[in-house]
Amino acid sequence: MWLVKEKMNYKFRQSIDPSEINKVMEVASSFGGNEEELTRIKAYIETELVELGENRILFILSQGIKTVGIVQLLTKRADEDPDLADGKSTAHVHALQIAKDHQRKGLGLMMMQELEVFAEISGFTRLTLGVDGDNDGALKLYEKLGYKRLKEAEGRETSIPLFYLFKDL
Ligand SMILES: CC(C)(COP(=O)(O)OP(=O)(O)OC[C@H]1O[C@@H](n2cnc3c(N)ncnc32)[C@H](O)[C@@H]1OP(=O)(O)O)[C@@H](O)C(=O)NCCC(=O)NCCS
Repeated sequence: MWLVKEKMNYKFRQSIDPSEINKVMEVASSFGGNEEELTRIKAYIETELVELGENRILFILSQGIKTVGIVQLLTKRADEDPDLADGKSTAHVHALQIAKDHQRKGLGLMMMQELEVFAEISGFTRLTLGVDGDNDGALKLYEKLGYKRLKEAEGRETSIPLFYLFKDL
């Protein structure tokens, strides 16, 4: 089974099974939020996971039975922008999350590196991603991995830009 890596009891694997939304929610709920907020987040993620196997692959990092990290790869369409994913050479990394109590252990970095290997083996030569301009931790992580600025867009809050980054593999 390719891409199932065991490292210090961690397993990283890919999935195109929408029923694994519970694993996504396990990580999402580690950030807090009341029942109403979590229900809203789940409904949104459900709409994303409809694309699994077609335009999206879900990647899950677990430690034993616990899900500790999640990330998605969009292969064809991302934010309606062919610069971000084009189904040929460029794919888009989406919603990287490490569970709150597992952060700063190098897991985000490890997942991104595994994802890059997967993308390269799959024939992609460029990865892109979007990050809020005030997300200093994530920006530091991506800078460490060699991502550079592609372009800027309006963020969810107009005062905070969204930076699109890229890395040629
Ligand atoms: C951003 C996130 C994925 C990082 O995952 P992580 O596993 O904690 O990151 P790592 O431990 O692999 O960090 C690797 C390096 O990135 C940088 N970094 C990561 N988080 C950081 C933070 N909060 N503050 C400053 N630097 C940070 C550091 O340089 C770090 O190396 P160091 O720990 O040796 O200093 C995680 O904080 C997270 O899930 N945040 C909430 C969701 C999110 O913002 N996702 C990004 C969407 S674009």
